[in-house]
Amino acid sequence: MGNNLLEGKRGIIFGALDEKSIAWKVAERCIEEGAKITLTNTPAALRFGQLKELGEKHGAEIIPADATNMEDLENLIDKSMEVLGGKIDFILHSIGMSINVRKGKSYTESNHQWMQKTFDISAISFHKVMQVAYKKDAVSDWGSILGLTYIAAQRTFSFYGEMAESKALLESYARSFGYHFGIKNKVRVNTVSQSPTKTTAGEGIKGFGTFVDFADQTSPLGNADADQCADYCVFMFSDLSKMITMQNLYHDGGYSMMGVNPEALKV
Ligand SMILES: NC(=O)c1ccc[n+]([C@@H]2O[C@H](COP(=O)([O-])OP(=O)(O)OC[C@H]3O[C@@H](n4cnc5c(N)ncnc54)[C@H](O)[C@@H]3O)[C@@H](O)[C@H]2O)c1
Repeated sequence: MGNNLLEGKRGIIFGALDEKSIAWKVAERCIEEGAKITLTNTPAALRFGQLKELGEKHGAEIIPADATNMEDLENLIDKSMEVLGGKIDFILHSIGMSINVRKGKSYTESNHQWMQKTFDISAISFHKVMQVAYKKDAVSDWGSILGLTYIAAQRTFSFYGEMAESKALLESYARSFGYHFGIKNKVRVNTVSQSPTKTTAGEGIKGFGTFVDFADQTSPLGNADADQCADYCVFMFSDLSKMITMQNLYHDGGYSMMGVNPEALKV
């Protein structure tokens, strides 16, 4: 049961593919807290994913958009304001895909064209979404924009490939656009650095399952799951977090502050 934390707020949720997706859980929690939302993903993801079910279940409009395509994003922002009946109060960017990782290229052998495509999808799309929303003056005063990230932006995780640089770029965009959006109309921009979570994107990484267990053993609280991430996003979209901006916020059960936990050595 919700607490009406997002009553009267309008949001756009990127990146719900199936019910394992972090964005799927966030969408459901936002609705539970009283928000009205539109859902978006690529046309291809709409064909092979389950987003239609989520939209139908909650009466939320689905607006297809490739987040690397400016025309798609302009249409998405315009249509969302039309469908929801006003400016947008929150946006979740929950998008990630590495071509080199998906094709099994080792980091030292990375194909640079694929790398650029990865940056475009996983990071530059965040700038594009914010640029379109900024130019259209589409975000309400004190609105909240979130991107999802991973600690590989700060530390080396050999299996994460070029996604490490994507996340570093994503977090930097949150700081830089957070400044401009804050000055413009008090909109806050942050990234949430989430524990490894078993989703389609997560499980596309070789050895991911073993690593999830290692992170779980290392973190004093254990891994944060997708439902807990959704709770945190609701807080960040609510008026309870109004003065938090330009931050990278760890939501990881304490993993980011750990050195060695003897529990993890037993795995
Ligand atoms: N799963 C984890 O362990 C984990 C940990 C930390 C951060 N994250 C981040 O959380 C976010 C969501 O990932 P997830 O784990 O829920 O996996 P997911 O596979 O469910 O979501 C990734 C989404 O990105 C979408 N996408 C890909 N290319 C796109 C494009 N061009 N335009 C629009 N959307 C596009 C996919 O269709 C998919 O819905 C990603 O940014 C990911 O890096 C995941």
